[in-house]
Amino acid sequence: MFAKGLKDVVAVHTTIASVDGEKGELRYRGTLLEDIVEGKTFEEVAYYLWNGQYPSENELHNLNEKLRQGRLLPNHVVSIIDALPANLPIMDAMRTAISAYGHTEFKAKPIEDQAIELTAALPVIVARHYRNSIFAHVIQPDPELSHTANYLWMLTGNRPEEVHVEALKTYLLLTMEHGLNASTFAGRVTISTESDLTSAITSAIGTMKGPLHGGAPSGVIDLLEEIQTPENIRAIIEGKLKDGERIMGFGHRVYKTEDPRSIILRDTCIKLTGKDHWLDLATVAEKEIISLLETYKPGRKLYTNVEYYAAAIMRSIDMPPELFTPTFSIARMVGWTAHAIEQLSDNTIFRPQSIYVGAKK
Ligand code: ACO
Repeated sequence: MFAKGLKDVVAVHTTIASVDGEKGELRYRGTLLEDIVEGKTFEEVAYYLWNGQYPSENELHNLNEKLRQGRLLPNHVVSIIDALPANLPIMDAMRTAISAYGHTEFKAKPIEDQAIELTAALPVIVARHYRNSIFAHVIQPDPELSHTANYLWMLTGNRPEEVHVEALKTYLLLTMEHGLNASTFAGRVTISTESDLTSAITSAIGTMKGPLHGGAPSGVIDLLEEIQTPENIRAIIEGKLKDGERIMGFGHRVYKTEDPRSIILRDTCIKLTGKDHWLDLATVAEKEIISLLETYKPGRKLYTNVEYYAAAIMRSIDMPPELFTPTFSIARMVGWTAHAIEQLSDNTIFRPQSIYVGAKK
């Protein structure tokens, strides 16, 4: 059987998450996303995804301690980040820094602890390279702050506003895991050769970088900035569709209805951040764009994906566009590592076939 892009091919059994694209349902470990987001911290949901149950008080204490330790990057990783050119894209810096986690002490740890350490390290790596890239002094992690608040602190050097922490945390929880998406698949393929977690995550980051996967939010911001006011929506979108362009933030390989993450993100963030120009524009534009897509791409079932409202939210919490995909990766690190561990628990190397269609000479 030939399936271009492996469309509709089932390649793994998983107990981490399920996505029902027709109903628009996403579950982590069997629990609906709507029930996960309410009142939970990043740390608790990460534990839930890794272990299939929420942590006890003691387990949460241990996890927090390991996360705090993981924020202290090894010296050689710090040196590598500081040696990178300021204009190197942040995703490239992340891929480079994470790939340096192959040292003996790291590899000697159980893979579950490696997962925690990489999850803790990634925001520190992102913030350090970002601060270097804007020629600002590096902000050291604050052990008193949560994973989310500490990330905002290290980016700006300012105590983050509670609404911003809450909005960002909601986004991180919603995007931690999403089944066998391209980057997770890349990570599973890598570790299926009995390579290591570092290499699996390096593969995943390289895959996340592309505009058809994790690179969409900055495309959405460009679109909203081009639109500026609701009167311009029709002309701009029609122009793009006539030119055969894709509208960033719309369409999904699995969802053929509204992406549930998009709905939660829109509702939660309107509640949290109140009235905001970018959220207002995104909400108005969504309806008109969907109707234009129905006209120009009938039957393709194109709705907003998570990146659409993510972009509006990031904009409203003043996150610069170059940090959108890195921030998505900070969330997805939990899913990537959970999948890598699952792959090793019942491993078969991935080796699909290809059909030769060239000339025979
Ligand atoms: N704008 C316009 N047309 C679109 C869009 C879009 N955003 N998405 C799909 N289509 C059209 C295609 O042109 C194609 O039309 P055709 O039948 O006339 O050739 C049809 O819908 C099917 O397209 P495919 O590429 O086969 O659909 P697929 O399910 O493989 O693509 C994808 C999914 C890559 C996300 C696509 O919808 C897209 O490119 N969207 C824009 C980029 C984006 O928002 N990416 C973020 C995805 S979410 C995430 O990664 C977390």
